[in-house]
Amino acid sequence: MSAKLTCSFGRTLTLKMTIVFSWVVWLLVGYQQHVDAISKHPIVCVLAFDGFRPDYILRGQTPTLERLSREGVHTQFLKNVFPTKTFVNFFSMATGMYAHKHGVLGNTAFNKDGQCIGYSYELFHYNSSITPIWTLNELSGEGRHSGVMMWAGEQYEYRNVTPTFSQEYNETMPWNDRIDMTMEWLTHKSTPINLLYMYFEQPDSDSHKYGVNSKNVTKQLKRVDVTIEYFLRQLSKHDLMEKTNLIILSDHGMVDIDYDKMIDLRKILDPGSYTMCGGSPVLQLQLTQGLEEEAYRNLTNARDQLKTFEVYKKNEIPKRWNYMGTNRVTDLLLVAKLPYAFNDENVKADHGYDNAEPDMHAYFTAIGPLFKEKFSIKHLQNIDIYALVAYIMQMDTAKLVMKPDASLAHIITILKSGAWENFQNHHTQNNLKYFVSKHRRRIHKREATVG
Ligand SMILES: *[C@@H]1O[C@H](CO)[C@@H](O)[C@H](O)[C@H]1NC(C)=O
Ligand SMILES: *[C@@H]1O[C@H](CO)[C@@H](O)[C@H](O)[C@H]1NC(C)=O
Ligand SMILES: *[C@@H]1O[C@H](CO)[C@@H](O)[C@H](O)[C@H]1NC(C)=O
Ligand SMILES: *[C@@H]1O[C@H](CO)[C@@H](O)[C@H](O)[C@H]1NC(C)=O
Ligand SMILES: [Zn+2]
Repeated sequence: MSAKLTCSFGRTLTLKMTIVFSWVVWLLVGYQQHVDAISKHPIVCVLAFDGFRPDYILRGQTPTLERLSREGVHTQFLKNVFPTKTFVNFFSMATGMYAHKHGVLGNTAFNKDGQCIGYSYELFHYNSSITPIWTLNELSGEGRHSGVMMWAGEQYEYRNVTPTFSQEYNETMPWNDRIDMTMEWLTHKSTPINLLYMYFEQPDSDSHKYGVNSKNVTKQLKRVDVTIEYFLRQLSKHDLMEKTNLIILSDHGMVDIDYDKMIDLRKILDPGSYTMCGGSPVLQLQLTQGLEEEAYRNLTNARDQLKTFEVYKKNEIPKRWNYMGTNRVTDLLLVAKLPYAFNDENVKADHGYDNAEPDMHAYFTAIGPLFKEKFSIKHLQNIDIYALVAYIMQMDTAKLVMKPDASLAHIITILKSGAWENFQNHHTQNNLKYFVSKHRRRIHKREATVG
């Protein structure tokens, strides 16, 4: 195994010490010595840093991250889904689906009864067949166990299953404590996890408050890097380094917004003419009966005059956003153009804009025994991570009821070809059917060249 996951504490020293002292330790501690267990499956750890712009790596604060992306898989960016909001993208990465299927249309969304729902069981259960990757892992059995640390939607049952280990979002829990907890999950005596999805709330929070180029954000970038370094050190301490496939990513980018040109809805619409859900820059509006035409006219007039936002009726929402398809979308969708915002929020920087905007793109790097080394690819799609992880873990995709949007065709190029051969030897086409149907010919071609 030629894993490139190394950290500043070399493993050589650890090994020598183990050989020299193991008998002494055995004599002293005897049978009470704790023996860590490790999953027999490959291990995948996904560490997500909210709002980490791909170019944050250029600020000179992240030497560890730079080293990992140099030695492993480097991307210019991770293409995310519309709207480029947090819960939407975390749930897209968890389910391999665009918003049109998983129904999380924003951090809040109208349910089918027209109520605006926030973070709740209901928000994440538009369809009871939705199967997050940590659930599919558990459903696949054979000693597969998931650990989910503060990832959006993690505390709920899906298909009557909860992850073996999970921790709800708790901002006050120090980052290193969170990592220590995940190490207990990875080395648990009877149910060690093979899959870890882990969330960190920065640099998003300080970017909103102080702006993309603030010193506060620079400080958070340093903190991100030190945390990754700590994670690697803990992996090494538990002898997990060579077995772990590590993905470090974000959900979206961030852009400073121009409040001088804030779009003041109060000057456009009578407050009694609509109810609103979602948040700037993407607002879902339900219009009051009888005022629909007048409200729409006011909005389109303002749009033509200001040119800072777009108004869409349901059937006009661009197809490329993969946003339509659930009964959660309401009468109108307002989308501010970058870098403008509506008056519902007061922040220095924001995200949520069109996912074609480079400023909204997310970060991705990967390193570990199954990933190519010193490999660079322009971009990947965040929904495809679902297919990649299901594939690495040889999960039982026959257990899926809804077809994810995720595809292996593009993302599989980041895996070492040996991993592909290994897969061919151990899998039936049936296990892959959710991820290859559209791209079968390309994959067959690939199979011919590799195997
Ligand atoms: C959140 O974490 C802090 C620090 O670890 C802890 O003291 C507190 O009890 C936690 N809160 C909840 C609700 O779990
Ligand atoms: C963030 O910036 C503000 C204003 O410059 C400063 O007062 C504060 O101490 C900073 N906080 C951190 C955590 O750096
Ligand atoms: C449309 O704009 C006009 C002029 O500002 C205002 O008087 C009216 O209340 C608005 N109508 C609605 C439905 O918001
Ligand atoms: C949930 O997904 C299943 C399978 O794709 C589909 O048959 C069903 O209609 C969906 N339910 C809703 C409420 O959309
Ligand atoms: Zn945010």
